[in-house]
Amino acid sequence: MSSACGLSFVKPVTLEELSAPQRMLLDAAAQVMETAYNPYSNFYVGAALLAQDGQVIAASNVENSAYGSTICAERMTLGKANSEGKRMYDSVAIIARGRDFDTNTVTGPCGACRQMLYEASQVSGKDLEIILSTTKKDKIVITSIRELLPLAFGPLDLGIDVTKYQK
Ligand code: THU
Repeated sequence: MSSACGLSFVKPVTLEELSAPQRMLLDAAAQVMETAYNPYSNFYVGAALLAQDGQVIAASNVENSAYGSTICAERMTLGKANSEGKRMYDSVAIIARGRDFDTNTVTGPCGACRQMLYEASQVSGKDLEIILSTTKKDKIVITSIRELLPLAFGPLDLGIDVTKYQK
């Protein structure tokens, strides 16, 4: 069965259908989105991770005049969480807006961020839920890293079990 956004693997939900922790995570992502350092694209992205101990870690995108040095919100958040001693997550919420426009379709993580989120799921030893939302939260989808990055390359391809790095 195909969903409203035309992709069979994402589940469209309403804001009211989110659980309290999912809603709280999305609110944290929306709040941190406003801190984006984005002089070049003027695009705002916020990402909030829910650690398995219940803590929320959130960050926004940080751009650079050497454009390729820009770090996306998702990877900033993963780095921040790791630095806070947290490597195991249940969920991540991602939201975005333009300088003077709201997003009217959800913004999915870029390829590099999907790869980093996949690594995090391998450390946790379980799939990672991904909540994507438009600026106004009028379109929300729930998916997961396994769904967004099928046939992923990961630590097991190198014969490495990263679950021993759980924290
Ligand atoms: N961006 C993110 O923060 N996450 C993504 O997954 C896609 C893109 C940021 C990077 C850059 O600051 C701006 O959006 C435009 O590409």
